[in-house]
Amino acid sequence: MEDIFQELINKAKEARLKAYAPYSKFQVGSAVLTENDTIFTGCNIENVSLGLSICAERVAIFKAISSGCKRIKAIAIICDTEKPCSPCGACRQVMVEFSPEMEVIMVNHQNKIKIAKAKELLPGFFKGRAIEHR
Ligand code: THU
Repeated sequence: MEDIFQELINKAKEARLKAYAPYSKFQVGSAVLTENDTIFTGCNIENVSLGLSICAERVAIFKAISSGCKRIKAIAIICDTEKPCSPCGACRQVMVEFSPEMEVIMVNHQNKIKIAKAKELLPGFFKGRAIEHR
């Protein structure tokens, strides 16, 4: 595996410690690597109005986008599950919006790793009229 992927995993692990998940008690950490090799991290943030909660992946991706980086090369996601942490459907759709080719590095606490491209995780994803605006 590429060294930069290991660095992303380490950053995701660190970000997970900042998770605000008092309701589910399920902490997730994430880190994205942009086209220009900047790293942005995210953790899940819940709310007493549960539907307002947001996943770690989208926090990291939105930090990148709002900093002007729309092309993402890779995203690492870590949580404490038996299998490597698999992103939810909503986050998959957000991933393909910006970079269908992004490498999604799924990790768990035993350091089990699975890697797949975003577009492979959401076959037949919604494209609307596919107007190029990115
Ligand atoms: N969660 C994530 O952060 N990423 C995912 O891909 C799935 C779920 C969060 C949302 C919620 O705060 C907690 O995990 C339990 O669902």
